[in-house]
This record gives sequence, C-alpha cells and structure tokens, in this order.
Amino acid sequence: MAEELHISTSTDKIEKYESLIPQIEALISGESDMVANLANISAALRYGMDFFWVGFYMVKEDQLVLGPFQGPIACTRINKGKGVCGSVWEKGITAVVPNVDEYPGHIACSSDSKSEIVVPIKKDGEVIGVLDVDSDQLESFDDIDQKYLERLMDSLSKN
Ligand code: SME
Repeated sequence: MAEELHISTSTDKIEKYESLIPQIEALISGESDMVANLANISAALRYGMDFFWVGFYMVKEDQLVLGPFQGPIACTRINKGKGVCGSVWEKGITAVVPNVDEYPGHIACSSDSKSEIVVPIKKDGEVIGVLDVDSDQLESFDDIDQKYLERLMDSLSKN
C-alpha cells in the first residue's frame, strides 16, 4: 500500500481527480475496515483536492451519525429527510448545492460553508451513509465532482 499520496499541482479539476481517485482506490483496496477507509478517504480528498470540509455521515438506526471527517467540527446527528444529507439519504441520489443559503432546510454546521455536494453510499441498493464535501466558495461543485465522487463511493461499497 502506498502511504504517500502524489498530489497533482494541476489547476484542472479533471486532471486532479484522474491522478487522485486511482490512488485512493488503491489505498482502500487492501483494507476491509470501513472506518479506516472512511478516515483515509476524508484525508485524501481534503488534502488532494484542497476541500474545506470532507466527511461521512453513516446510517445508524433512524439517524445519520457523523463519521470520519477532515475540517472544522460538525453537527453529529441528522434526521432522515433533513438538510442536504438527510435528503440524499431519503432519495438515494447525489445533491449538488451551488449556494447553501438557497437550499431550503440546509443544516449549517459552519457559517463558512457556501456550497456543497453530498453523494450516497449504497450497499445492496440501500443507502448506508453519505459523503459530504463542503466549500467555503459558492458554486464549487458540478457534474465533474459528481462523476468522480460517485465512482469513489461505488469503489468503496464494492471493496
Ligand atoms: N450541510 C449539511 C450538514 C452537514 S455539514 O455541512 C458538515 C446538510 O445540510 O445536511
């Protein structure tokens, strides 16, 4: 297992993902422990993509509970259907939020978060958790982020 990430200096988002995602897939492929993999994915995305906040909320009984993350401290529990994360859990599809202030019911864990992408993690068709990435800039995420982050969550759940 490579214990050092090569972080692309490219300013092109596709090039950064193309370099980073295979490295993360290699990193998690040798490890079966979910928490260990979520922790390494958070750190790799936070530092590899220079995101403001990266973390996981995992389904535990009737709530999403904060899992491994990188960035400022965050809310610990989210109900189904609430906020961006709870809505992605309910609907099972990715949400790209260009401006969190315009998202009805957005849960503000940090007033510095301006835009957000939330990707479901599915196992046997069920949502078992979500990946949440926050930016301190507006409109940071688009279909490129969606494509690569969905691919990564797919690799994680097949691991
Ligand atoms: N904004 C999220 C809550 C989690 S924090 O951003 C880390 C939401 O509305 O679900």
